[in-house]
Amino acid sequence: MKRSFLHRGIALLWSALMSAGSVAAQQSNRPSPRADTFGRDGHLYIGADYYPEHWPRERWETDIRLMREAGFNVVRLAEFSWGFIEPSEGVYRFDWLDQALALLDRNGIKAILGTPTASMPAWVARKYPEVLAVQSNGQRYTWGSRKDYSLSSGTYRLLSQQITRAMAEHFAATPNVIGWQTDNEFAGPQDFSETSRIDFQDWLRRNYGTLETLNRSWGTHFWGHLIGDWAEVTIPDCVGEGMWGVSGNPSACLDWRRFNSWINARFQADQVAILRAANPDWVITHNLMGLNPTIDYYELARDLDLVSWDNYPALDRSGQPYAASMAADLMRGLKRKNFWIMEQTAGAMGWATFTDTPLPGELRNICYQQLAHGADAQIWFRWRTATAGREQYWHGLLGHDGRPLRRYREAAQVTREYRSLEPYLKGTTVKADVAIVYDYESIWSLASQPGYAGNDYTSAVSRYYNALFRAGISVDLISPEADLTQYQLVLAPDLVVLPDARARRLIAFVERGGVLMTDIRTGVKDENNLAHERTLPGLLSDVLGITIEEYGALEGRSYPVVSKELFGDTLTATHYVDWVTPTKADAVAAYGRWPLESFAAVTRNQAGRGIAWYVGTVFEEDAFYDRLIDRLLNDARVERWVHLPEGVEASVRQGAGRKLAFLINHNQAEKSVTIPSGKRELLTGEVLGDRVRLGPFGVAVIEW
Ligand code: GAL
Repeated sequence: MKRSFLHRGIALLWSALMSAGSVAAQQSNRPSPRADTFGRDGHLYIGADYYPEHWPRERWETDIRLMREAGFNVVRLAEFSWGFIEPSEGVYRFDWLDQALALLDRNGIKAILGTPTASMPAWVARKYPEVLAVQSNGQRYTWGSRKDYSLSSGTYRLLSQQITRAMAEHFAATPNVIGWQTDNEFAGPQDFSETSRIDFQDWLRRNYGTLETLNRSWGTHFWGHLIGDWAEVTIPDCVGEGMWGVSGNPSACLDWRRFNSWINARFQADQVAILRAANPDWVITHNLMGLNPTIDYYELARDLDLVSWDNYPALDRSGQPYAASMAADLMRGLKRKNFWIMEQTAGAMGWATFTDTPLPGELRNICYQQLAHGADAQIWFRWRTATAGREQYWHGLLGHDGRPLRRYREAAQVTREYRSLEPYLKGTTVKADVAIVYDYESIWSLASQPGYAGNDYTSAVSRYYNALFRAGISVDLISPEADLTQYQLVLAPDLVVLPDARARRLIAFVERGGVLMTDIRTGVKDENNLAHERTLPGLLSDVLGITIEEYGALEGRSYPVVSKELFGDTLTATHYVDWVTPTKADAVAAYGRWPLESFAAVTRNQAGRGIAWYVGTVFEEDAFYDRLIDRLLNDARVERWVHLPEGVEASVRQGAGRKLAFLINHNQAEKSVTIPSGKRELLTGEVLGDRVRLGPFGVAVIEW
């Protein structure tokens, strides 16, 4: 009893001190306006993730010579090297890293260093066992893996600050260190310890102020779960599947995820403040994980100069590579600027079993897809395949044998080509007329309460994203708080959490002349994950010109949907239906079977100077989404500039008076695309006729 009181007191004190520190840290953490994604010398950063500490010193010269010969000008180093740098507490060894950096510098190669906190040395866990997180089953992690830390542990935060400061001060004047990656791939939630619970309680107290507000916001009258003391708050049960799913309060679950996202940002802010103080010229970034749903990346990116991400597209080639495109568009959307690739597939991938090896031209294809979407740096993971440890089968550009073979040669080819494109690329980015609202709070709300079975937010967004991809239209994935004025068309699917202020922004967008599309489950919940007390679609009813009095999950059944205007044929409604009654809107598609014949499946409404569409079900056929996107683009007056064969992707980078069209063939067979004749392809220098031929995995970069 006494112990837990003491424990709580210390934890609270820590938390208060640390939060005060974080506020100060956050003020000095503002990203530097100088941070350009393009190298200051006009060169793109191209290179590999390199682990000199894994190889004998005699090998380094060979590695670095090979990198130079491939045209590389950057490496990422040291993000898992805490054990080497601080072999015991307070004892630092920098000689090996100094030597590696000096050798890289002599070869014209710059470095991004990682703060090495994602993998703690053995002595840390032994000396301070409380820094290890507790898993959801109540068991503390045993040391021996990575990402096993408790971000609520004051001890771990202090140790992280100490190693960050020691490295920052040591390398502050090292000429070829250009910047930092914080930690490695932040994720969560991962800590179910008592410390984490206290940190959560404290976060709630700061956010809600009074218990009365907390109780109201969480709707704790349900099941009589009134909270009479902050210390009564537990970590809610939020992970589960099936009809009953989880038993925790959904409002508490949403806050638990918000809190877990925030503690990662807080941990990062500690490090960023130290790095900025040591050398304000450094570029600070983090390697995000694309569509990973666990962290609010808008929040995490706020302190960074630029966003980087780790791109490992599936090599099973079972479909179009939509996800890597969508992730890139989100990564660009986080700061509304170009981004870096910090890790990218360099060979077969896997820890226990592995994938196929990339086929000839596939590594190059993966690079161009990202370049086309705004990647201004290309770093392959990893330089050479590890001969020890968990990742022996996660292949690098070089194999276990360390010889520069096919994958190395392909990376060198990409580098040569990129260098020739640099003068054209500089100052360009993707400028989209179309945006998709991408909302972490809706992701998290649906994670503990999907509503209808199989309602996964990212898949819901993908239905529309993929159709835009097939139409060759550029899209920004943006925060629900982002300014919409630059867009002609905004899609806001599955936006289950819709606070009134956000609904009003969507309405204003339409009234000013925008075209909006939204769909099922949008606007069901408020910011606390409590159901709005309004007939659906709530505040959006007027702008959409519809009302929804009933809805239901189809649980494997389907309805035919008919629409002469939209697709002629009969299509299939699956998973879920809203019984949509148009009040002002036109019913563009309707159900073809009792008892839904009088309800609309798709509606379109003119409101103010704009148009608002609603899709009330999940269509089985991609063809529906293709037709819908055609109509939306038409309403929004966004022109289709190209017609693509299946599996060919298009993207445009523009700026500085230039427009570059990328065509990327994801098929293993030749494809050709019709274009206006007389345009120049930049990789070959050839002036093209009215068709461009793309070999298997081939690409073309055309001055448009
Ligand atoms: C990434 C991670 C790397 C490496 C790679 C392959 O997610 O950042 O450190 O582990 O996966 O497993």
